[in-house]
Amino acid sequence: MVQAKVWTLAKHFDGFPKDSDFKLKVEELPEPKDGEVLLESVFLSVDPYVRPFSRAHMKEGDPIIGSQVAKVIQSKNPVFPVGSHVLGNFGWRTHAVSDGSGLTPIMPGWPQDVSLSLALGSIGMPGLTALYGIEEVLGLQKGETLLVNAAAGAVGSVVGQIAKIKGCKVVGSVGSDAKVAYLKELGFDEAFNYKTVSSLDEALRKASPEGYDCFFENVGGHFSTVALQHMKSFGRIAVCGSISVYNDTTPQTGPYPHLTMIVKQLKMEGFVQSRWEHIHPESLRRLMAWLKEGKLQYREHITKGFENMPAAFMGMLQGENLGKAIVAA
Ligand SMILES: NC(=O)c1ccc[n+]([C@@H]2O[C@H](COP(=O)([O-])OP(=O)(O)OC[C@H]3O[C@@H](n4cnc5c(N)ncnc54)[C@H](OP(=O)(O)O)[C@@H]3O)[C@@H](O)[C@H]2O)c1
Repeated sequence: MVQAKVWTLAKHFDGFPKDSDFKLKVEELPEPKDGEVLLESVFLSVDPYVRPFSRAHMKEGDPIIGSQVAKVIQSKNPVFPVGSHVLGNFGWRTHAVSDGSGLTPIMPGWPQDVSLSLALGSIGMPGLTALYGIEEVLGLQKGETLLVNAAAGAVGSVVGQIAKIKGCKVVGSVGSDAKVAYLKELGFDEAFNYKTVSSLDEALRKASPEGYDCFFENVGGHFSTVALQHMKSFGRIAVCGSISVYNDTTPQTGPYPHLTMIVKQLKMEGFVQSRWEHIHPESLRRLMAWLKEGKLQYREHITKGFENMPAAFMGMLQGENLGKAIVAA
């Protein structure tokens, strides 16, 4: 009999999450039956979407939603042999019994020298989000100028690097000087700390006086309002995330964007990466090829210990992470 530790939602978030919103429970798992496997978590992901999706996808008492890389430790399913690794969306838990539905084997040919944690980051959902936002939504072209915010994070750092691969000028906004230095290492043309610049308007103008063709939006709120003023005519905006409003208890109101959009003839499109699920395998191979060629670099912010998942999640929402926020079980 295996005992699984499971982080559950003790109370729905109200404003910024707090320790008392989470409760650690222990579950007795049954022996796997024919066709089933027993899984043990290796790396767990803490992602921003947990915050805005929490009310719609969880009841109080439910396991916290999330994905992980897990190892098969018992198997009665030949598709998933003992010792193999899978990606699964079965929430914040150390162990799970699965009949295989919803499990994705790690990409075939995963190189020995690449950590499997990247399957939750640059060679996983965040990397795919960056790729689809750039290619499918923005249609970014060589020579264009792209702005990205939350630029040192899991999605943003890949966005900037793909834009450089495509021969573009890239400007990144981040919340610390260490992150600014990291963006420079990655080859961003311009980077600034939105928390310390005296004026966001001036920082955006200075970084690209001629304006922006494309804006990969991760933050929303005030940043979005100011950035819109700096778009070139016929500029395109990919709305990927809006992290600055996820913890709001009352919706922010601001200047409405319509007039700016009309005058500049802007195109703004929201998207969710799963729209292109049918091309995930090929897209992951492309991301891995860039990684192996040294064109896609990465950092990870690894928190050790399953018991620290809520702290890792809250830390990520506060910007503690440089690169993808991961928990090593
Ligand atoms: N549409 C999709 O399919 C999809 C998929 C994945 C992610 N997303 C979205 O993409 C965005 C980035 O996700 P990620 O997984 O890559 O997370 P991440 O960037 O690795 O981590 C979140 C970052 O957001 C920044 N942040 C937090 N509060 C902020 C605020 N008030 N203003 C500005 N920045 C703030 C922090 O960086 P700083 O230190 O720079 O502030 C923090 O490190 C999120 O909005 C997420 O919801 C969308």
